[in-house]
Amino acid sequence: MEPNRRTVIAGAAAGMAAITLGGTAHATGGRKPVKSLFGKLADGTKVHSWSLENGGTRLEVLSYGGIVRSLEIPDRRGRYANVSAGFDDLEDYVARSPYFGALIGRYGNRIGKGRFTLDGRAYQLSVNDGENSLHGGAQGFDKQVWDVEPFTEGPDVGLRLYHTSVDGEMGYPGTLRTKVTYTLTRHGDWRIDYEATTDRATVVNLTSHVYWNLAGEGSGTIEDHELTIAASRYTPTDAGLIPTGELAGVAGTPFDFRRAKPVGRDIRVFHPQLVAAQGFDHNWVLDKGVTARPGHAATLRDPTSGRTLRIATTEPGLQFYSGNFLDGTLTGPSGRAYRQGDALCLETQHFPDSPNQPSFPSTVLRPGQTYRTTTIHSFGR
Ligand code: BGC
Repeated sequence: MEPNRRTVIAGAAAGMAAITLGGTAHATGGRKPVKSLFGKLADGTKVHSWSLENGGTRLEVLSYGGIVRSLEIPDRRGRYANVSAGFDDLEDYVARSPYFGALIGRYGNRIGKGRFTLDGRAYQLSVNDGENSLHGGAQGFDKQVWDVEPFTEGPDVGLRLYHTSVDGEMGYPGTLRTKVTYTLTRHGDWRIDYEATTDRATVVNLTSHVYWNLAGEGSGTIEDHELTIAASRYTPTDAGLIPTGELAGVAGTPFDFRRAKPVGRDIRVFHPQLVAAQGFDHNWVLDKGVTARPGHAATLRDPTSGRTLRIATTEPGLQFYSGNFLDGTLTGPSGRAYRQGDALCLETQHFPDSPNQPSFPSTVLRPGQTYRTTTIHSFGR
């Protein structure tokens, strides 16, 4: 797949140091993030795009939603492709994005009926998915313009993204001050550090919603991608995709990804849990649990290009969503429409609906505490 024009221009303009090994260009250093105007919202607010590169990974991030508009990595022959689904224009992101590449908050995934009780007080959240609240409600963090601050620190380059959500926004209590740091390391890893503080007790569950296709955005199905998830259990859901509270074993079910398995191998096995979601759209309970340091969660590999993604996280859960609701109505930068299963999401998180599930690890954040989680994406070929 050809790199898109925008990237070629950005790379050439930056005059990157590169060495040639058997016809393959390898980046030798980090590049200071470069800012450009991406578009304007209806009210005139400017949205910027930031391009950065380090260790052979190229990232383009929008101030709108902290969206990863493109993430380019080489295949085994050194050919770059954008491996994340997205759009060319801001208007598409605003009007019709299924959270392509976005930062998700205040609460990743669903809260049943958009309701929960905390310290004896009931809260009603914005409901935007049937009767439930999904990904923070109708105007979640994916639809906010973040303040972005670029940095270069030692061998790392990155962006710090800031957003303050006022008390009561989308129904959530407390003013939540959020800082998300995207770092590209000299090894080309993309690291995300999430931080948040509040002035009233609240619930928080932040994540990133990149839609991966390691063969390249617009190249067709991800059913041949091999996936490993380090989890012996998952959280089954009801018809509205709200966890029932049970932690079910994956052994002997289509949900067993403990050994590398093509995503499509069991996706057509009849299993009641695959019906409501039209495929995989579940939270896996990572065997490592909550950890102080990022521990291994999942590996995704495209056998054709050789590109691999490894995810390590401090979080206890991983939502694997097999792009079930992509229906051909959205078209990406490649000019090709996204159909069901043309990209997949691996969202590190606390479990969906935790505020209503006393047995799940808590998502409560109180004044004086700092919410801190880290997820690292490492690429190989
Ligand atoms: C959810 C899906 C949802 C998708 C939104 C995923 O995180 O698990 O159910 O449809 O986000 O595009």
